Amino acid sequence: MRVTPLHPHIGARADGIDLRSPLTAELRTAIEAAMDRHAVLVFPGQDLDDDQHMAFGGAFGPVEHTRATVDAQRHRLKHAQMNDISNLDLNGEILKADDRRRMFNLGNRLWHSDSSFKRTPAKYSLLHARSIPPEGGETEFADMRAAWDALGQKMRGKLKDLVCWHSLLYSRAQLGFHGFTEEEQKQFAPVPQRMVRRHAGSGRLSLYLSAHIGRIDGFEVPEALALVRDLVEHATQREFVYQHRWQVGDLVVWDNRCTMHRGRAYDDTAYPRDMRRVTLEDCAPTLEQAL
Ligand code: OGA
Ligand code: MN
Repeated sequence: MRVTPLHPHIGARADGIDLRSPLTAELRTAIEAAMDRHAVLVFPGQDLDDDQHMAFGGAFGPVEHTRATVDAQRHRLKHAQMNDISNLDLNGEILKADDRRRMFNLGNRLWHSDSSFKRTPAKYSLLHARSIPPEGGETEFADMRAAWDALGQKMRGKLKDLVCWHSLLYSRAQLGFHGFTEEEQKQFAPVPQRMVRRHAGSGRLSLYLSAHIGRIDGFEVPEALALVRDLVEHATQREFVYQHRWQVGDLVVWDNRCTMHRGRAYDDTAYPRDMRRVTLEDCAPTLEQAL
């Protein structure tokens, strides 16, 4: 495996391996080391089917067993655990402009960390491109360790022990989406997470932000949201961001513990974009992890 950085802070490209072949312990260790350093790895030209994609992801830890979305009972893909990040309905047709799932999926355009709204959030996400639109639809990644390092001493002291509450209801409300059923509202009740985490593999501190944050313990809500806005603006300066332009067959793996990401706009009522995601669970809720 050859690893070539794509950006001064975040992201690297990994060439020379075929992810369909069984993973040796040595290669797994090398990928983990590259992930700890670069936080985002791009594996170009990987012709994976869903089984191979699941098998490769599962080599790095437990796969999340619940998909958090609206209308989750019905699913286009073979594996119930696989996240459908496409703009396609159950028959593979492009979602209509007013489709509820489309409204919900638009939340991916906000800077976030996957599953931060779950008590035990996500470790890695592995997103595979099966088909892409002719333009747009890039994915951007922000380096939250570099963002932490760039904060002043006083701000670090203020943030270090904060506890934020995350929910899908909060992120969707930012876009004016409120159409959750009573059951979904219960399912997506807010969960607490540390605002500052220590990244296990590198030992570095990292900001843990997400569009899912709706309040912070000890703060009035507007004060909390104004602080989060300032911090997201800081963390997503171009200096800390790698933009990925997709090619069919790219598998991009990112570490949700020390990055945020967002999808960029594309003409999603005209062109299919078939992306599938395997997501791994972190080891514990962030409040149970040592700082
Ligand atoms: C995701 C996600 C953004 C995109 O898969 O978790 O946020 O560009 N994707 O599709
Ligand atoms: Mn995401």
